[in-house]
Amino acid sequence: MSIRSAANQLKHKDFMGAESMHRFRPGRVQSCELSGSIVASFTFEGEPWDARVLDVSSTGLGLESVSAACVPGASLSDLTLTYDGTSIWSGAGEVIYQIGEPTSRVGIRLTSGLFEVSELSYRNVLRNSDASVAIDLTMRAAASLPDAWRARVADVHHLLQAARSHFDACENELSQLGTERLEREPALIRAFYDSWAPKYRSIFTELYELSKGFDHKQIELASHYAERHLYPLLKGCPLHSRSHDKPSGYAGDYQTMLLCSGPDYLAGSLYERFLYRVARNYTMVKTVPARQRAMGTVIAEVAATTRGRKKVVSIASGPAVEIQEFVRTMAPTPIQFVLVDQDEVALAYANDKITAAILANPRLGDEVEVECLHLSVRQLMKPETDELLASIARLSGANLIYSAGLFDYLPDNVAQKLLMRLYDLVGSGGRLLVGNLRETPDTTWLLDYVLNWPLVYRTRESMESLASVLKPTPRTLRINFDGTERCLFWDVERPG
Ligand SMILES: C[S@@+](CC[C@H](N)C(=O)[O-])C[C@H]1O[C@@H](n2cnc3c(N)ncnc32)[C@H](O)[C@@H]1O
Repeated sequence: MSIRSAANQLKHKDFMGAESMHRFRPGRVQSCELSGSIVASFTFEGEPWDARVLDVSSTGLGLESVSAACVPGASLSDLTLTYDGTSIWSGAGEVIYQIGEPTSRVGIRLTSGLFEVSELSYRNVLRNSDASVAIDLTMRAAASLPDAWRARVADVHHLLQAARSHFDACENELSQLGTERLEREPALIRAFYDSWAPKYRSIFTELYELSKGFDHKQIELASHYAERHLYPLLKGCPLHSRSHDKPSGYAGDYQTMLLCSGPDYLAGSLYERFLYRVARNYTMVKTVPARQRAMGTVIAEVAATTRGRKKVVSIASGPAVEIQEFVRTMAPTPIQFVLVDQDEVALAYANDKITAAILANPRLGDEVEVECLHLSVRQLMKPETDELLASIARLSGANLIYSAGLFDYLPDNVAQKLLMRLYDLVGSGGRLLVGNLRETPDTTWLLDYVLNWPLVYRTRESMESLASVLKPTPRTLRINFDGTERCLFWDVERPG
């Protein structure tokens, strides 16, 4: 119930006389309409009583039956009404009727003053309101989360608010400029970003450190708190909102990857376009195109060093930007790309873009072939039908199998099994390249606490340990980096 409807409930419907039931009775609130519990306490014949209130009006109450001696005319001198543990009225009352079984009930008239029914309705509205949730969260956070941590969250909030005020003011000025605006805007955003962003990033790094010792309960509370205070100021940018809202049902879909590496975002307000610049400059976001380039480099190496027809398999291929880039400029050589993804729409997108890139490179003729397999990792690991087995057979003997943006979601036991499975599918002398992100202090905290995008970060040591079970023993096993050094790659060569 809203504040307005709580108040309206108390108003007379009209002033034209009733169609029936002409006897006026003051408006009554039934306890079943309330989400909290309302109790009447009083002393009767020297004994304290607590009784559930069935309904209440400005002049009286209905109570669940109490003492049989509580007969009409009995006076209750210290009557108190309590809603949800808070005393909301106290005074005197008198029993005016008592009804026995089956619906036992005692009627009380308030004799020392009226009860403000609207206040009860307002208390009930407040109990379920956003404000109550905020108050409760604030108090719980104050009790369980370090002051320094909450202060840093407040600092991020203030920085974002300052940016929004600045750009809202600039928006008005820029709108006077007409088409000149398009030339001025990038400089305006850059100037503000360069002085603002170092502070913003350094607070994220501090929050990352301050959150390190949190236990499970603190992490849950801290995530609610940080999301509530910061996400409303971030959600105008599509990269923040898609990461947070996960419209595909999981984080990191192919559209999110395109937002990390695609063209500039031109829609929305000036502040929202500024936020997109902020997002694109998070270190881990810059890793997305950097790791695509790293994968593209290995595709080029394998294409250049392998004789005959080559098979290159991309697992969790997403938009397959690295294949598009490679095909656009490659020298003619027979090569087959096999794309595997659980998302059919991602496959359709990648297939179209790679085909367009092939057509744009007229030297290629029909040397390049693209095949898309709509498969999940689960199906890859446990093929339960002959059709699945046949599809997976199409991957075997690959000269290169590579993947990024997948193992960061897999716990160690699954990651290790998948690594072994993919290694089995690589042909002799072939290469397996699999990326996994490392913790990145200026970005990881935002993903964990505000965007609800938890990832399994790994270290060189943990990756070496997971790969130690590969059989036959690899010819070479290295842990390499992308250009930002935030994505680690298992780079494994199978013996020839
Ligand atoms: C973070 S994107 C990475 C895309 C691409 N490899 C890149 O680095 O740009 C993850 C991709 O993995 C796919 N994916 C996620 N879980 C998967 C699963 N269990 N099986 C197959 N594909 C999956 C998603 O559909 C998405 O396209």
